[in-house]
Amino acid sequence: MAHIVGAVTTSHVPAIGKAIAKGLQNEPYWKPFFDGFINVREWLKDARPDVVVVLYNDHGLNFFLDKMPTFSVGAAPTYTNADEGWGIPTIPAFTGEQDLSWHLIEHLVEQEFDLTTCQEMLVDHAFTLPMALLWPEQNWPVKVVPVCINTVQFPVPSARRCWKLGEQIGQAVRAWKSDARVMFLGTGGLSHQLEGERAGFINKAFDLAFMDSLTTNPQWATQWNSAELVEKAGTQGIELLMWLATRAALGNGAREVHRNYHIPISNTASGVMVLEPAAQ
Ligand code: DHB
Ligand code: FE
Repeated sequence: MAHIVGAVTTSHVPAIGKAIAKGLQNEPYWKPFFDGFINVREWLKDARPDVVVVLYNDHGLNFFLDKMPTFSVGAAPTYTNADEGWGIPTIPAFTGEQDLSWHLIEHLVEQEFDLTTCQEMLVDHAFTLPMALLWPEQNWPVKVVPVCINTVQFPVPSARRCWKLGEQIGQAVRAWKSDARVMFLGTGGLSHQLEGERAGFINKAFDLAFMDSLTTNPQWATQWNSAELVEKAGTQGIELLMWLATRAALGNGAREVHRNYHIPISNTASGVMVLEPAAQ
């Protein structure tokens, strides 16, 4: 059976791609953000994942507003990035773990999740930049399975539904007949709002309480509906749903190995956490 090594949850912001391309990691603006990933990479050396299941939201590169699945899973042999209009360089292609993709799809459909299955899929900054923060050489020593949750076009799935999705992803991975070491990577959030009257909105108290809840009371955020979560975290802060689903995939107990929280990166309160299943 596959072995779950843990999870990384992190914000994703296109400006990170420009900072990487320009080598700005040690500039005063960027250092508190990039330094937050040093311990994550140290942890990765021991965790040694073979496969990463990436939970993220596509922002218009693969799905646009005209066709927006609530949940979708990639089952492609390779995944490429493309110009999203942010002016960030594209990144080397990723190799898909197709056996796990189909195992996950079959399990999730059996468990009554009506998925969109993607045998071709472009991956956007929400996928590529967290991967580049974890493996800066961009030589990708892992295979990947992308899982997209719509947080771009409302109505978005509820926190409760995302928790259940994550639980089933975890169960599917644990039941996968493979020796592989599997890691979850959940990207999005934390609090931010890019447009409207509250553009620039950040809620540090809520973000920190949410990060704490992932180990102390992991279903805490499921008490709110999507409108309430938007009120607390901002229109794009609802991307915290990816953190929630990722935490659910780890199973009953989890412990925090590392965290960093820094305001702002672009318009976003940026956070990163490493979590391990409690049983380890
Ligand atoms: C920003 C944040 C996001 O989550 C995103 O997808 C795009 C931009 C930002 O803060 O600039
Ligand atoms: Fe985003």
